[in-house]
Amino acid sequence: MQNVLVTGGAGFIGSNFIRYLLPSEPQIKIVNLDALTYAGSLENLTDVANEPRYTFVQGNICNEELVLSLLRQHRIDTVVHFAAESHVDRSISNPHQFIETNVVGTLSLLTACRRVWLEEKALPLAAVRFHHVSTDEVYGTLQPTDPAFSETTPYAPNSPYAASKASSDHLVRAYHHTYGLPVTITNCSNNYGPYQFPEKLIPLMLLNALTGQPLPIYGDGQQIRDWLYVSDHCEAIKLVITQGRSGETYNIGGNNQPANLEIVQELCALLDELVPDSPHCPHKSLIHYVADRPGHDRRYAIDIAKVKTEVGWEPRESLISGLRKTVNWYLANSEWIAKISQQKNYQQWLHKNYQQRGVQK
Ligand code: NAD
Ligand code: DAU
Repeated sequence: MQNVLVTGGAGFIGSNFIRYLLPSEPQIKIVNLDALTYAGSLENLTDVANEPRYTFVQGNICNEELVLSLLRQHRIDTVVHFAAESHVDRSISNPHQFIETNVVGTLSLLTACRRVWLEEKALPLAAVRFHHVSTDEVYGTLQPTDPAFSETTPYAPNSPYAASKASSDHLVRAYHHTYGLPVTITNCSNNYGPYQFPEKLIPLMLLNALTGQPLPIYGDGQQIRDWLYVSDHCEAIKLVITQGRSGETYNIGGNNQPANLEIVQELCALLDELVPDSPHCPHKSLIHYVADRPGHDRRYAIDIAKVKTEVGWEPRESLISGLRKTVNWYLANSEWIAKISQQKNYQQWLHKNYQQRGVQK
Protein backbone atom coordinates (compact mmCIF):
# COMPACT_ATOMS: atom_id res chain seq x y z
CA MET A 1 0.00 0.00 0.00
CA GLN A 2 1.60 3.25 -1.20
CA ASN A 3 -1.08 5.34 -2.90
CA VAL A 4 -4.51 4.59 -1.52
CA LEU A 5 -7.89 5.71 -2.86
CA VAL A 6 -10.41 5.68 -0.01
CA THR A 7 -14.01 6.08 -1.15
CA GLY A 8 -16.51 7.44 1.36
CA GLY A 9 -13.70 8.66 3.61
CA ALA A 10 -15.81 11.51 5.01
CA GLY A 11 -18.29 9.08 6.55
CA PHE A 12 -18.13 7.30 9.89
CA ILE A 13 -15.87 4.30 9.26
CA GLY A 14 -13.98 5.86 6.33
CA SER A 15 -12.89 8.88 8.39
CA ASN A 16 -11.80 6.62 11.25
CA PHE A 17 -9.86 4.49 8.75
CA ILE A 18 -8.00 7.51 7.33
CA ARG A 19 -7.16 8.69 10.85
CA TYR A 20 -5.91 5.17 11.65
CA LEU A 21 -3.93 4.52 8.44
CA LEU A 22 -2.09 7.82 7.89
CA PRO A 23 0.10 7.78 11.01
CA SER A 24 0.56 4.00 10.95
CA GLU A 25 2.47 3.99 7.63
CA PRO A 26 4.75 7.01 6.99
CA GLN A 27 5.06 6.33 3.21
CA ILE A 28 1.32 6.12 2.53
CA LYS A 29 -0.55 8.79 0.57
CA ILE A 30 -4.33 8.86 0.72
CA VAL A 31 -6.83 10.32 -1.73
CA ASN A 32 -10.32 10.52 -0.23
CA LEU A 33 -13.13 10.52 -2.83
CA ASP A 34 -16.43 11.42 -1.21
CA ALA A 35 -19.63 12.98 -2.56
CA LEU A 36 -20.41 14.57 0.84
CA THR A 37 -23.97 13.28 1.02
CA TYR A 38 -25.93 13.94 4.22
CA ALA A 39 -23.80 11.20 5.87
CA GLY A 40 -20.40 12.61 4.94
CA SER A 41 -18.80 15.66 6.50
CA LEU A 42 -15.41 17.34 6.45
CA GLU A 43 -16.05 17.98 10.15
CA ASN A 44 -15.04 14.31 10.57
CA LEU A 45 -11.55 15.01 9.19
CA THR A 46 -10.49 18.41 10.52
CA ASP A 47 -7.43 16.89 12.23
CA VAL A 48 -5.99 15.42 8.99
CA ALA A 49 -7.12 18.11 6.54
CA ASN A 50 -3.69 19.82 6.39
CA GLU A 51 -1.61 16.66 6.28
CA PRO A 52 0.47 16.81 3.02
CA ARG A 53 -0.03 13.06 2.39
CA TYR A 54 -3.81 13.48 2.37
CA THR A 55 -5.93 14.82 -0.52
CA PHE A 56 -9.70 15.33 -0.49
CA VAL A 57 -11.70 15.17 -3.73
CA GLN A 58 -15.42 15.88 -3.66
CA GLY A 59 -17.03 13.64 -6.26
CA ASN A 60 -19.30 10.70 -6.96
CA ILE A 61 -18.06 7.12 -7.30
CA CYS A 62 -20.56 6.70 -10.17
CA ASN A 63 -18.45 9.18 -12.19
CA GLU A 64 -16.19 6.65 -13.90
CA GLU A 65 -14.15 9.31 -15.75
CA LEU A 66 -13.33 10.99 -12.45
CA VAL A 67 -12.30 7.66 -10.90
CA LEU A 68 -10.12 6.84 -13.94
CA SER A 69 -8.36 10.18 -13.71
CA LEU A 70 -7.69 9.75 -9.97
CA LEU A 71 -6.31 6.23 -10.47
CA ARG A 72 -3.93 7.48 -13.17
CA GLN A 73 -2.96 10.83 -11.66
CA HIS A 74 -2.15 9.47 -8.21
CA ARG A 75 -0.81 6.05 -9.37
CA ILE A 76 -3.31 4.41 -7.03
CA ASP A 77 -2.33 0.85 -6.04
CA THR A 78 -5.03 0.21 -3.43
CA VAL A 79 -8.72 1.10 -3.40
CA VAL A 80 -10.52 0.83 -0.07
CA HIS A 81 -14.20 1.12 -0.90
CA PHE A 82 -16.43 2.41 1.91
CA ALA A 83 -18.72 4.77 -0.03
CA ALA A 84 -22.33 3.65 0.27
CA GLU A 85 -25.79 4.49 1.39
CA SER A 86 -25.58 2.73 4.75
CA HIS A 87 -28.79 3.16 6.75
CA VAL A 88 -31.34 0.29 6.63
CA ASP A 89 -34.32 2.51 7.56
CA ARG A 90 -33.53 4.93 4.72
CA SER A 91 -33.30 1.99 2.30
CA ILE A 92 -36.84 1.05 3.27
CA SER A 93 -38.05 4.58 2.40
CA ASN A 94 -35.90 5.10 -0.72
CA PRO A 95 -34.38 1.93 -2.21
CA HIS A 96 -33.44 3.51 -5.57
CA GLN A 97 -30.61 5.60 -4.16
CA PHE A 98 -29.14 2.43 -2.63
CA ILE A 99 -28.99 0.67 -5.99
CA GLU A 100 -27.42 3.72 -7.62
CA THR A 101 -24.67 4.23 -5.06
CA ASN A 102 -24.04 0.74 -3.76
CA VAL A 103 -24.41 -1.26 -6.99
CA VAL A 104 -23.80 1.15 -9.89
CA GLY A 105 -21.14 3.00 -7.88
CA THR A 106 -19.25 -0.20 -7.09
CA LEU A 107 -19.44 -1.27 -10.74
CA SER A 108 -18.03 2.09 -11.80
CA LEU A 109 -15.02 1.67 -9.47
CA LEU A 110 -14.42 -1.93 -10.60
CA THR A 111 -14.61 -0.93 -14.27
CA ALA A 112 -12.10 1.89 -13.76
CA CYS A 113 -9.70 -0.37 -11.82
CA ARG A 114 -9.94 -3.04 -14.50
CA ARG A 115 -9.08 -0.48 -17.18
CA VAL A 116 -6.06 1.04 -15.42
CA TRP A 117 -4.67 -2.01 -13.61
CA LEU A 118 -5.45 -4.84 -16.04
CA GLU A 119 -5.64 -3.21 -19.49
CA GLU A 120 -3.21 -0.29 -19.19
CA LYS A 121 -1.04 -2.32 -16.77
CA ALA A 122 -0.13 0.90 -14.96
CA LEU A 123 1.37 -1.05 -12.04
CA PRO A 124 2.55 -4.64 -11.40
CA LEU A 125 -0.49 -6.85 -10.73
CA ALA A 126 1.04 -8.06 -7.46
CA ALA A 127 1.05 -4.46 -6.18
CA VAL A 128 -2.65 -3.66 -6.60
CA ARG A 129 -5.75 -4.49 -4.54
CA PHE A 130 -9.43 -3.54 -4.58
CA HIS A 131 -10.80 -3.91 -1.05
CA HIS A 132 -14.58 -3.89 -0.67
CA VAL A 133 -16.04 -3.03 2.75
CA SER A 134 -19.28 -4.94 3.21
CA THR A 135 -21.71 -6.05 5.86
CA ASP A 136 -22.93 -9.12 7.74
CA GLU A 137 -26.49 -8.15 6.71
CA VAL A 138 -25.97 -9.95 3.38
CA TYR A 139 -26.45 -13.23 5.28
CA GLY A 140 -29.96 -12.34 6.49
CA THR A 141 -31.15 -13.24 9.96
CA LEU A 142 -30.36 -16.03 12.46
CA GLN A 143 -32.71 -18.10 14.61
CA PRO A 144 -31.79 -18.18 18.34
CA THR A 145 -29.84 -21.46 18.13
CA ASP A 146 -28.31 -21.07 14.64
CA PRO A 147 -24.51 -21.01 14.41
CA ALA A 148 -22.87 -17.63 13.73
CA PHE A 149 -22.41 -16.41 10.13
CA SER A 150 -19.32 -17.84 8.44
CA GLU A 151 -17.90 -17.00 5.01
CA THR A 152 -19.81 -19.96 3.54
CA THR A 153 -23.23 -18.99 4.95
CA PRO A 154 -25.56 -18.53 1.94
CA TYR A 155 -26.54 -14.97 1.11
CA ALA A 156 -30.14 -14.09 2.10
CA PRO A 157 -30.38 -10.28 2.28
CA ASN A 158 -33.64 -9.04 3.80
CA SER A 159 -33.61 -5.24 3.40
CA PRO A 160 -33.05 -3.17 0.25
CA TYR A 161 -29.77 -2.01 1.87
CA ALA A 162 -28.62 -5.59 2.44
CA ALA A 163 -29.70 -6.59 -1.08
CA SER A 164 -27.71 -3.73 -2.60
CA LYS A 165 -24.60 -4.66 -0.59
CA ALA A 166 -25.02 -8.35 -1.53
CA SER A 167 -25.21 -7.31 -5.17
CA SER A 168 -22.03 -5.24 -4.86
CA ASP A 169 -20.23 -8.18 -3.18
CA HIS A 170 -21.20 -10.40 -6.12
CA LEU A 171 -19.84 -7.85 -8.60
CA VAL A 172 -16.51 -7.66 -6.75
CA ARG A 173 -16.29 -11.45 -6.68
CA ALA A 174 -17.17 -11.65 -10.39
CA TYR A 175 -14.46 -9.11 -11.34
CA HIS A 176 -11.93 -11.34 -9.62
CA HIS A 177 -13.23 -14.54 -11.16
CA THR A 178 -13.76 -13.23 -14.70
CA TYR A 179 -11.02 -10.66 -15.17
CA GLY A 180 -8.48 -11.59 -12.48
CA LEU A 181 -8.82 -8.30 -10.58
CA PRO A 182 -7.01 -8.64 -7.22
CA VAL A 183 -9.76 -8.16 -4.61
CA THR A 184 -10.64 -8.82 -0.99
CA ILE A 185 -14.00 -8.42 0.76
CA THR A 186 -14.74 -7.97 4.46
CA ASN A 187 -18.27 -8.56 5.81
CA CYS A 188 -18.47 -6.78 9.13
CA SER A 189 -21.01 -6.48 11.92
CA ASN A 190 -22.38 -3.29 13.55
CA ASN A 191 -19.72 -0.65 14.19
CA TYR A 192 -19.87 2.06 16.83
CA GLY A 193 -17.52 4.78 18.06
CA PRO A 194 -16.51 8.40 17.35
CA TYR A 195 -17.96 10.32 14.38
CA GLN A 196 -20.94 7.99 13.78
CA PHE A 197 -23.83 9.85 12.18
CA PRO A 198 -26.68 10.11 14.73
CA GLU A 199 -29.25 8.22 12.66
CA LYS A 200 -27.75 4.91 13.91
CA LEU A 201 -28.78 3.31 17.21
CA ILE A 202 -25.95 4.28 19.57
CA PRO A 203 -25.38 7.95 18.64
CA LEU A 204 -29.12 8.54 18.20
CA MET A 205 -29.77 7.26 21.72
CA LEU A 206 -26.90 9.34 23.13
CA LEU A 207 -28.05 12.58 21.50
CA ASN A 208 -31.68 12.01 22.48
CA ALA A 209 -30.75 11.13 26.06
CA LEU A 210 -28.56 14.22 26.43
CA THR A 211 -31.48 16.43 25.40
CA GLY A 212 -34.19 14.55 27.28
CA GLN A 213 -35.88 13.18 24.15
CA PRO A 214 -37.54 9.72 24.06
CA LEU A 215 -35.25 6.75 23.27
CA PRO A 216 -37.15 4.91 20.50
CA ILE A 217 -36.75 1.13 20.80
CA TYR A 218 -38.06 -0.70 17.71
CA GLY A 219 -40.41 -3.60 18.51
CA ASP A 220 -39.53 -5.48 21.70
CA GLY A 221 -35.85 -4.42 21.74
CA GLN A 222 -34.72 -8.05 21.82
CA GLN A 223 -33.02 -7.94 18.40
CA ILE A 224 -29.37 -8.91 18.56
CA ARG A 225 -26.38 -7.33 16.82
CA ASP A 226 -22.66 -8.17 17.07
CA TRP A 227 -21.10 -4.81 18.06
CA LEU A 228 -17.55 -3.85 17.06
CA TYR A 229 -15.60 -0.74 18.06
CA VAL A 230 -14.69 1.13 14.89
CA SER A 231 -10.88 1.18 15.33
CA ASP A 232 -10.95 -2.62 15.58
CA HIS A 233 -12.69 -2.71 12.19
CA CYS A 234 -10.06 -0.36 10.74
CA GLU A 235 -7.25 -2.62 11.94
CA ALA A 236 -8.97 -5.68 10.46
CA ILE A 237 -9.31 -3.98 7.06
CA LYS A 238 -5.65 -3.03 6.97
CA LEU A 239 -4.56 -6.56 7.92
CA VAL A 240 -6.82 -8.17 5.32
CA ILE A 241 -5.47 -5.86 2.61
CA THR A 242 -1.83 -6.49 3.52
CA GLN A 243 -2.01 -10.15 4.57
CA GLY A 244 -5.30 -11.57 3.26
CA ARG A 245 -5.48 -13.73 0.15
CA SER A 246 -6.73 -12.18 -3.08
CA GLY A 247 -10.20 -13.36 -4.06
CA GLU A 248 -11.14 -14.15 -0.45
CA THR A 249 -13.88 -12.94 1.86
CA TYR A 250 -13.29 -12.43 5.60
CA ASN A 251 -15.99 -12.00 8.26
CA ILE A 252 -15.27 -9.38 10.95
CA GLY A 253 -17.17 -9.16 14.24
CA GLY A 254 -16.95 -8.07 17.84
CA ASN A 255 -17.44 -11.38 19.63
CA ASN A 256 -20.38 -10.10 21.67
CA GLN A 257 -24.11 -10.13 21.03
CA PRO A 258 -26.27 -8.13 23.45
CA ALA A 259 -29.93 -7.32 22.72
CA ASN A 260 -30.63 -3.73 21.63
CA LEU A 261 -32.40 -3.00 24.90
CA GLU A 262 -29.29 -4.03 26.89
CA ILE A 263 -27.13 -1.66 24.80
CA VAL A 264 -29.51 1.24 25.42
CA GLN A 265 -29.72 0.47 29.14
CA GLU A 266 -25.90 0.39 29.34
CA LEU A 267 -25.69 3.77 27.57
CA CYS A 268 -28.22 5.19 30.06
CA ALA A 269 -26.19 3.86 32.99
CA LEU A 270 -22.99 5.40 31.58
CA LEU A 271 -24.72 8.77 31.17
CA ASP A 272 -26.09 8.59 34.74
CA GLU A 273 -22.51 8.05 35.93
CA LEU A 274 -20.75 10.58 33.66
CA VAL A 275 -23.40 13.35 33.73
CA PRO A 276 -24.81 12.94 37.26
CA ASP A 277 -26.21 16.50 37.35
CA SER A 278 -28.36 15.99 34.26
CA PRO A 279 -32.06 16.75 34.78
CA HIS A 280 -32.71 13.64 32.65
CA CYS A 281 -31.32 11.12 35.21
CA PRO A 282 -32.16 8.29 35.38
CA HIS A 283 -31.82 8.28 31.61
CA LYS A 284 -33.51 4.89 31.26
CA SER A 285 -36.81 6.59 32.10
CA LEU A 286 -36.63 8.01 28.54
CA ILE A 287 -36.89 4.52 26.97
CA HIS A 288 -39.93 4.33 24.74
CA TYR A 289 -41.15 1.41 22.57
CA VAL A 290 -42.13 2.28 18.99
CA ALA A 291 -43.40 0.35 15.98
CA ASP A 292 -40.90 -2.15 14.64
CA ARG A 293 -38.78 -1.76 11.49
CA PRO A 294 -40.47 -3.62 8.59
CA GLY A 295 -38.62 -6.89 7.86
CA HIS A 296 -36.41 -6.35 10.92
CA ASP A 297 -33.60 -8.95 11.16
CA ARG A 298 -33.77 -10.62 14.56
CA ARG A 299 -30.25 -11.77 15.22
CA TYR A 300 -26.72 -11.43 13.80
CA ALA A 301 -23.58 -13.17 15.04
CA ILE A 302 -20.20 -13.47 13.35
CA ASP A 303 -17.72 -16.33 13.34
CA ILE A 304 -14.28 -14.68 13.15
CA ALA A 305 -12.25 -17.91 12.97
CA LYS A 306 -11.01 -17.32 9.41
CA VAL A 307 -9.70 -13.79 9.90
CA LYS A 308 -8.15 -14.81 13.21
CA THR A 309 -6.34 -17.80 11.72
CA GLU A 310 -5.27 -16.24 8.42
CA VAL A 311 -4.31 -12.67 9.38
CA GLY A 312 -4.11 -12.84 13.17
CA TRP A 313 -6.88 -10.29 13.84
CA GLU A 314 -9.26 -10.23 16.78
CA PRO A 315 -11.00 -7.28 18.47
CA ARG A 316 -9.07 -5.32 21.12
CA GLU A 317 -12.02 -3.50 22.72
CA SER A 318 -14.67 -5.15 24.86
CA LEU A 319 -18.22 -3.84 24.56
CA ILE A 320 -17.93 -2.13 27.95
CA SER A 321 -14.61 -0.39 27.18
CA GLY A 322 -15.78 0.60 23.69
CA LEU A 323 -19.10 2.03 24.88
CA ARG A 324 -17.36 4.05 27.59
CA LYS A 325 -14.91 5.50 25.04
CA THR A 326 -17.81 6.29 22.73
CA VAL A 327 -19.90 8.05 25.37
CA ASN A 328 -16.86 10.05 26.49
CA TRP A 329 -16.16 11.07 22.88
CA TYR A 330 -19.72 12.33 22.31
CA LEU A 331 -19.65 14.20 25.64
CA ALA A 332 -16.38 15.89 24.67
CA ASN A 333 -17.49 16.82 21.14
CA SER A 334 -20.57 18.95 21.55
CA GLU A 335 -19.49 21.28 18.68
CA TRP A 336 -19.37 18.33 16.28
CA ILE A 337 -22.79 17.20 17.52
CA ALA A 338 -24.22 20.68 17.06
CA LYS A 339 -22.91 21.01 13.48
CA ILE A 340 -24.03 17.54 12.41
CA SER A 341 -27.40 17.47 14.10
CA GLN A 342 -28.47 20.92 12.92
CA GLN A 343 -28.37 19.76 9.29
CA LYS A 344 -31.77 20.20 7.66
CA ASN A 345 -31.66 16.70 6.21
CA TYR A 346 -31.13 15.19 9.65
CA GLN A 347 -34.03 17.04 11.22
CA GLN A 348 -36.25 16.04 8.29
CA TRP A 349 -35.16 12.41 8.73
CA LEU A 350 -36.01 12.42 12.43
CA HIS A 351 -39.41 13.81 11.61
CA LYS A 352 -40.07 11.29 8.83
CA ASN A 353 -38.85 8.19 10.69
CA TYR A 354 -40.11 8.88 14.21
CA GLN A 355 -42.93 11.45 14.27
CA GLN A 356 -45.60 9.32 12.63
CA ARG A 357 -44.14 5.96 13.57
CA GLY A 358 -46.71 4.96 16.20
CA VAL A 359 -46.24 2.63 19.14
CA GLN A 360 -45.46 -1.07 19.16
CA LYS A 361 -48.64 -3.17 19.01
P1 NAD B 1 -21.67 6.37 6.32
O1 NAD B 1 -23.08 6.45 5.84
O2 NAD B 1 -21.31 6.97 7.63
O3 NAD B 1 -20.71 7.04 5.24
C1 NAD B 1 -20.86 6.82 3.86
C2 NAD B 1 -19.95 7.82 3.14
O4 NAD B 1 -20.05 7.55 1.72
C3 NAD B 1 -20.34 9.28 3.35
O5 NAD B 1 -19.19 10.05 3.61
C4 NAD B 1 -20.97 9.68 2.03
O6 NAD B 1 -20.83 11.05 1.72
C5 NAD B 1 -20.20 8.79 1.05
N1 NAD B 1 -20.95 8.55 -0.18
C6 NAD B 1 -22.24 8.13 -0.30
N2 NAD B 1 -22.57 8.03 -1.59
C7 NAD B 1 -21.46 8.37 -2.31
C8 NAD B 1 -21.17 8.42 -3.70
N3 NAD B 1 -22.09 8.12 -4.63
N4 NAD B 1 -19.92 8.78 -4.08
C9 NAD B 1 -19.00 9.09 -3.15
N5 NAD B 1 -19.22 9.06 -1.83
C10 NAD B 1 -20.44 8.70 -1.42
O7 NAD B 1 -21.30 4.85 6.27
P2 NAD B 1 -20.40 3.98 7.29
O8 NAD B 1 -21.25 3.57 8.41
O9 NAD B 1 -19.12 4.68 7.50
O10 NAD B 1 -20.18 2.68 6.38
C11 NAD B 1 -19.09 2.63 5.46
C12 NAD B 1 -19.13 1.31 4.71
O11 NAD B 1 -19.05 0.23 5.64
C13 NAD B 1 -20.41 1.09 3.92
O12 NAD B 1 -20.07 0.47 2.70
C14 NAD B 1 -21.24 0.15 4.80
O13 NAD B 1 -22.07 -0.66 4.00
C15 NAD B 1 -20.15 -0.65 5.45
N6 NAD B 1 -20.47 -1.20 6.79
C16 NAD B 1 -20.93 -0.36 7.77
C17 NAD B 1 -21.17 -0.88 9.04
C18 NAD B 1 -21.68 -0.01 10.17
O14 NAD B 1 -22.02 -0.54 11.22
N7 NAD B 1 -21.72 1.31 10.02
C19 NAD B 1 -20.93 -2.24 9.29
C20 NAD B 1 -20.47 -3.06 8.26
C21 NAD B 1 -20.23 -2.51 7.01
O1 DAU C 1 -24.71 -5.22 10.67
C1 DAU C 1 -23.97 -4.23 10.00
C2 DAU C 1 -24.88 -3.07 9.68
O2 DAU C 1 -25.11 -2.39 10.91
C3 DAU C 1 -24.30 -2.11 8.66
O3 DAU C 1 -24.14 -2.78 7.44
C4 DAU C 1 -25.21 -0.90 8.47
O4 DAU C 1 -24.60 0.03 7.60
C5 DAU C 1 -25.42 -0.25 9.83
O5 DAU C 1 -26.31 0.83 9.72
C6 DAU C 1 -25.93 -1.27 10.84
O6 DAU C 1 -27.29 -1.67 10.52
P1 DAU C 1 -28.41 -1.83 11.66
O7 DAU C 1 -29.72 -1.70 11.03
O8 DAU C 1 -28.15 -3.03 12.48
O9 DAU C 1 -28.03 -0.53 12.55
P2 DAU C 1 -28.94 0.56 13.30
O10 DAU C 1 -28.02 1.36 14.13
O11 DAU C 1 -29.83 1.27 12.35
O12 DAU C 1 -29.86 -0.34 14.23
C7 DAU C 1 -29.29 -1.22 15.19
C8 DAU C 1 -30.42 -1.95 15.85
O13 DAU C 1 -31.17 -1.01 16.66
C9 DAU C 1 -31.43 -2.56 14.90
O14 DAU C 1 -31.90 -3.78 15.42
C10 DAU C 1 -32.56 -1.53 14.85
C11 DAU C 1 -32.53 -0.94 16.26
N1 DAU C 1 -32.95 0.48 16.35
C12 DAU C 1 -32.34 1.38 15.52
C13 DAU C 1 -32.71 2.71 15.57
C14 DAU C 1 -32.06 3.72 14.65
C15 DAU C 1 -33.90 0.88 17.28
O15 DAU C 1 -34.42 0.04 18.05
N2 DAU C 1 -34.26 2.19 17.33
C16 DAU C 1 -33.72 3.12 16.49
O16 DAU C 1 -34.12 4.31 16.57
